[in-house]
Amino acid sequence: MTDRPGDTEAPGDTEALPPPRTPGRYRVALVCLGNICRSPMAHVVLADQVAAAGLDDRVEVVSAGTAGWHVGKPMDERAAATLARAGHDPTRHRARQFEPSWHQDCDLVLVMDRSNLAEVGGETPRVRLFRAFDPENPGGEVPDPYYGGEQGFTEVMSMVERTSTHLVRLLSDAVAP
Ligand code: 4NP
Repeated sequence: MTDRPGDTEAPGDTEALPPPRTPGRYRVALVCLGNICRSPMAHVVLADQVAAAGLDDRVEVVSAGTAGWHVGKPMDERAAATLARAGHDPTRHRARQFEPSWHQDCDLVLVMDRSNLAEVGGETPRVRLFRAFDPENPGGEVPDPYYGGEQGFTEVMSMVERTSTHLVRLLSDAVAP
């Protein structure tokens, strides 16, 4: 979080996405700690929902971890199994690490928890908690399921699915010609 003037959130801010930086594809980055559990699940679900809405020529989804421990690796097999059960393809993911240049390259950076938020430099109009856009319970964190059981991945999936559905509506408005 930051106290810089103009960066504080006003009521209703969650409903509007920042405008595109450039005429190209609107780029959304999803960020967690390791880029093998939460942000890959959000990446695959949001990208599939974007494609289903016919927006994939105007919206690009990427993901990264703030840590580089798993760079180049596939996602956690529990995350992959959860995605596969819901009909998504988890096999193409390879972990990446967030770099400061992504702040210039992305239109929107959505992080999974407040620790991630601190790691990427704090909240700004283009850097938000992913669950700021959760239509059921906005403003929470996506809890890290890595050290827990299956249930944690199922809960992450529910949060990711409903938040992505809401984000696609907002993205559709943000990239409208
Ligand atoms: P993620 O979960 O941030 O949702 O990808 C984690 C993955 C790996 C580790 C921690 C959290 N780790 O300590 O290796």
